[in-house]
Amino acid sequence: MSDVASDFYSGLVAQLYEPLAGSLVDPEVFLRFVRKAGTPSLELACGAGHPMLDMLAQGCDLWGIDSSKDMLDQCREKAKDRGLRVNVELQLMQALGLEQ
Ligand SMILES: C[S@@+](CC[C@H](N)C(=O)[O-])C[C@H]1O[C@@H](n2cnc3c(N)ncnc32)[C@H](O)[C@@H]1O
Repeated sequence: MSDVASDFYSGLVAQLYEPLAGSLVDPEVFLRFVRKAGTPSLELACGAGHPMLDMLAQGCDLWGIDSSKDMLDQCREKAKDRGLRVNVELQLMQALGLEQ
């Protein structure tokens, strides 16, 4: 799978993406949307887990895909630290192949 984005969002960029992000979106905005639209829901390009982990912590049935292994590793690690079960897969959003 060749994908420029996952090349960029790797190594140090993956580690520092959230700590250096200018601002992170308010999960409430997405929670309201998902509650209205229905679950289970899928976050495309979930990255290192924002806002997905906050939404999971509020009981939202949410899955995620991202094309960067390093970003997903960050996400799984943070989920583990927060005691959250996370369903994420390494996939390109333009070539989705999910069981669910
Ligand atoms: C700006 S970050 C956003 C991450 C997270 N959603 C956030 O808001 O903090 C963009 C993410 O999109 C992912 N990405 C970019 N192109 C993608 C593609 N074609 N398919 C899946 N993920 C992609 C990158 O790997 C990166 O994790």
